[in-house]
Amino acid sequence: MNTVLENDENTPSNGDNGSTIISRLPMNLSTLFPECRQQQERVWQGSFTFVHACDPQLGLIEKHILKKDNPGWKVDLTHLKCAIKMINEIQPKPKFLVVGGDMVDTPPYVETLGIHSEQYKDLKDCFDTMLDPDIKAVFVCGNHDVGDMPTFTTMDVYRNEFGPEYFTFWHGGVKFTVLNSQYFKFPELLEMEFFQQMEFLQNTRDDGALHHVVFQHIPLCIESEDEIDISFLNINQPMRHEVLNAMRTTGVKHIFYGHTHRNGISQIGPIEHVMTAAVGGTFDDTKSGFRVVYVSEKEITHEYIPLEVQFKEVNITADEDIQTTDESLLKKLSELERK
Ligand SMILES: [Fe+2]
Repeated sequence: MNTVLENDENTPSNGDNGSTIISRLPMNLSTLFPECRQQQERVWQGSFTFVHACDPQLGLIEKHILKKDNPGWKVDLTHLKCAIKMINEIQPKPKFLVVGGDMVDTPPYVETLGIHSEQYKDLKDCFDTMLDPDIKAVFVCGNHDVGDMPTFTTMDVYRNEFGPEYFTFWHGGVKFTVLNSQYFKFPELLEMEFFQQMEFLQNTRDDGALHHVVFQHIPLCIESEDEIDISFLNINQPMRHEVLNAMRTTGVKHIFYGHTHRNGISQIGPIEHVMTAAVGGTFDDTKSGFRVVYVSEKEITHEYIPLEVQFKEVNITADEDIQTTDESLLKKLSELERK
């Protein structure tokens, strides 16, 4: 069974030369869609699982948590390698892996493009060399991937690295919609892109879909549709209502978010809002990990899986690399080191 990118009149070109998003895919990480327009993917073919893994955010742990003088991203990479190794071992094998944004920590602004590119290269190497090729990766645009204040330039970098920032795809009768939440957070910055994405979202209804699932990085809301605007953590009013209204009319029942580096589940009206904590660093006692999602004909359920290696559980100081006397952990770390 292949997963198929929707490439019809609802799908924007996202380009200024009229090219379709399909033409971008071979040059980036999104190897998800080797074939397109296969009608069979719109038909239910049995239960399946996929993985939602957010915020590997290479560079965050050493810079913002360990506060190293010359921060790198070795610790973050160890977490990512551990996650991919564990995802490869899941049985039955997940059909795909959705990386829910903030793939790297440093945004691709002109002045930081050098570090960004190095982080991206290591991320790409990790996926290229470690992820089971049968588990296709889908990438969601995070604020760190394009900057809190995205520009035409940072969005172009993103598209060249990861492909389109909003699109739909089908897998076994289920429709999945990926959105760029930066357009909701600061619609005035790239106004045309915001309007195009809204129009795209409004046209995603498909009565033939057994389920309709959305992925975006920043939560529309954490606990309540009417909650206050929380700085960078949720989408501001009244945008939140506008987007949720569009999602309700397009039959969305589940939205999966990253961004907060915490877990959370809220049923708000007909829509389940699911936050998945980070593969990379977390800022409280939340364990780093990822979420396995089980899709059956009747329902979608999920569980959070903590990583086998947690940087907070090994002895890391600001000046030292990972240290531990735990034999089993040492074995896991040396296995990951060889990857
Ligand atoms: Fe993040």
